[in-house]
Amino acid sequence: MNTRRTLMLASAAALIATPALAQTRRVLPPMTDGPFYPPKRWRGDADWDADLTRTGSSAAARGEHLALLLQVADARGRVIDGTEVEIWQCDAMAAYRHPGVRAEPGNHDPAFQGFGAARTAADGGVRFRTIRPVPYPGRTPHIHVKLRHASFGELTSQLFLAGDPGNARDFLWRQLDAEEQTSLAMRLDPASGDGLKWQTRHTLTVPA
Ligand SMILES: [Fe+2]
Repeated sequence: MNTRRTLMLASAAALIATPALAQTRRVLPPMTDGPFYPPKRWRGDADWDADLTRTGSSAAARGEHLALLLQVADARGRVIDGTEVEIWQCDAMAAYRHPGVRAEPGNHDPAFQGFGAARTAADGGVRFRTIRPVPYPGRTPHIHVKLRHASFGELTSQLFLAGDPGNARDFLWRQLDAEEQTSLAMRLDPASGDGLKWQTRHTLTVPA
């Protein structure tokens, strides 16, 4: 009995220790914009809001809708409000919304906004509605993310899906060490209501 109790205490201690270990304060590995970052001059003054699943047409975007909650914090764990956060990704038909991509009927989803921007609130958090990223030819599912704030300047990276079978074949994922992979791997949980299929909360760590 004593042994069993000791074991139980030991496992309880391990559980308590886990969150601290999981808090890797690894700064996001910088990546390039890639070929599909929509240029500002093309975006103009249109409202590229935080809901990528609506473009003004009545239809909702194809794909599995995802509530994407991002929190920006520095390597010391201090949240950073007022960070400009941009995300972009391909639609459910693997088409990017970009001036260099010819959009024709049937080759893309006109209801998917493709790019969105928002600013973090006082808790360092920002909420997007988008779709669960899908594979793009030659790439594992990913969401591009760009952060801007006076304290650290500009930082661009990509978010991946934890456990996706395509990751091991992805040239960018393979260049990351285990800690960097953890810092970029979103863990999706099922969501219900409001047409959502998935939700995730992910911390983006920037230089202190
Ligand atoms: Fe991409």
